[in-house]
Amino acid sequence: MELSKLQLFLSLLFLSTLIFSLCNVTFAYNYDDYRKDNPDVSEFRLINRRELTDCLDPNPYLSITTNVNSTLSNEAYVTVTVGGVLVPDSSDWIGMISPSNSSVDACPDSGANYLQTGDTASLPLLCHYPVKAQYLSNDPNYLSCSKQACVEQIGGICLQYACLGSVTFHVVNIRTDIEFVFFTGDFSVPCVLRRTNPIKFANPSAPLYGHVSSIDSTGTSMRLTWVSGDQTPQQVQYASGKSATSTVKTFTVADMCSASGIPSPAKDFGWHNPGYIHSAIMTGLLPSTTYSYKYGSSSVGWSNTLSFKTPPASGAANLTFIVYGDMGKAPLDQSVEHYIQPGSTSVASAITKDIDAHHIDSIFHIGDISYATGFLVEWEFFLKQIEPYASRVPYMAAIGNHERDYPGSGSFYSLTDSGGECGVPYGTYFQMPVSAMDKPWYSIEQGPIHFTVISTEHDFTSGSEQYNWINADLASVNRKTTPWVVFTGHRQMYSSSSDPDSSFAASIEPLLLKYKVDLALYGHVHNYERTCAVYQSQCLAMPTKDASGTDTYNNNNYAAPVQVVVGMAGFSLDTFPSTAPSWSLVRLSEFGFARVTASRSDLLFEFVNSGTSAVHDRFHIIKTY
Ligand SMILES: [Fe+2]
Repeated sequence: MELSKLQLFLSLLFLSTLIFSLCNVTFAYNYDDYRKDNPDVSEFRLINRRELTDCLDPNPYLSITTNVNSTLSNEAYVTVTVGGVLVPDSSDWIGMISPSNSSVDACPDSGANYLQTGDTASLPLLCHYPVKAQYLSNDPNYLSCSKQACVEQIGGICLQYACLGSVTFHVVNIRTDIEFVFFTGDFSVPCVLRRTNPIKFANPSAPLYGHVSSIDSTGTSMRLTWVSGDQTPQQVQYASGKSATSTVKTFTVADMCSASGIPSPAKDFGWHNPGYIHSAIMTGLLPSTTYSYKYGSSSVGWSNTLSFKTPPASGAANLTFIVYGDMGKAPLDQSVEHYIQPGSTSVASAITKDIDAHHIDSIFHIGDISYATGFLVEWEFFLKQIEPYASRVPYMAAIGNHERDYPGSGSFYSLTDSGGECGVPYGTYFQMPVSAMDKPWYSIEQGPIHFTVISTEHDFTSGSEQYNWINADLASVNRKTTPWVVFTGHRQMYSSSSDPDSSFAASIEPLLLKYKVDLALYGHVHNYERTCAVYQSQCLAMPTKDASGTDTYNNNNYAAPVQVVVGMAGFSLDTFPSTAPSWSLVRLSEFGFARVTASRSDLLFEFVNSGTSAVHDRFHIIKTY
């Protein structure tokens, strides 16, 4: 969804900052009302625009410690304890901080970067940004001071007791040192009380977050992409004796975009070095076959031995795939962090279970992937979240507004929704079979289905490069090989809870009808909604009930595509109006994913609630070839 309020806020912020700077007045952000209206937008976005100073605190007893003895493993739960607190306060919090680059002593570049974004505020000296944070009141013993320790004694007699408090953080290997900082003054006027020494990861070069994807429609090759702190090419060893060497990519802060007058998180305080993204193509495989693999090298270490399954080749009789949009991520501890998507972890867990239970062949994530939106480290928490299943079946992606949009960057919509990422992290982590990095549209065939995957964030209007490609791709489908055509992109063409951009339907809907697209799938709106066989907001055909009472669209008499919004995979859910247009047949506002099981004559579509794994909507599209 667009963040037009955020844009407005940032513009006002800039203007206010300029005025206050000219008046030589210390600027204080008053964002309470903004936060009330925008609970999903990070307070860190504001914290990082402040100069953090040490608190004027005379308490000599304060301490901060962790349960880490030496270094951090690739995934850890770190308990942070503060002690010597004489007066626990509800504004006390712990920030988990990681350096924004490898040399953060003075951060001489930060000021220039901030000026480059048009920000003339009193510049923060914060070279670190909080990855996440927790109020100490998460410890039920803290505010009541029910845990105490003696901090001063003479001759075995305690002269002064003080309070203790502990919170636990989930940490994944982001390569750069971690520091935990004890703040007071809540998020609005924070100051530093104590900080731990930097804690290193045991192996910053470890090969991590491997996920697989298809490169073509043969089912005989598979791309593996992973992250490491080391740029030397590594290997994937697979299929009992084969190996492939990685090509290595990265991106720098210079690749992030920014626009005059609008600060870009990716360009300054949200930046985190992504390390190196390795990608290797495994070839000589058989379709629909399971292979074991591991990746890494003798110098950086190896991943565990894992297994993936190749998808069925184009023209094969059957395919089962999962599709969803708008997942994002959420912390596995009690932290607050930038842009939490509350349903994401339950949906990811449910999909992991579904991989085995329903023999899933592939996944399609159709935009709004991680919602890192310029806070780069959050990509790695997202990759960790999907690893249990993205390491096993091809994870195919489409780009969304929160990966691509930024003013002046070439995106179709001139919004700040990507936080300055402009599709670069997305295109590096998810290397799809596209013709170029910033032309993120492609088609692929698996089993009986031809998938046309578009970018709703690039020009799709008649005569554009993408429009011509869509036209040619749909025209090229051999329905004897792939009886079904599934068209997919991020922004919806139909939704009763959020108005679509009418130019999308005006440009593209005639192509869907002309080429007899069976099913059109979108995200962007955070709920589930299914239409009749719809064209220009009119039902050209309605489903009938089969013997078991399930809606069935008979495409032997093709009328129009069935359109489904599946944007309910994590982001806070959108509601529906009490009355619905005639084309809207099913509306569900609940977290889950869609599962499609297709043979050559029957496409079964199911919406699965992630909390219960129960199917809450089901329909068939049938046809005979
Ligand atoms: Fe979106």
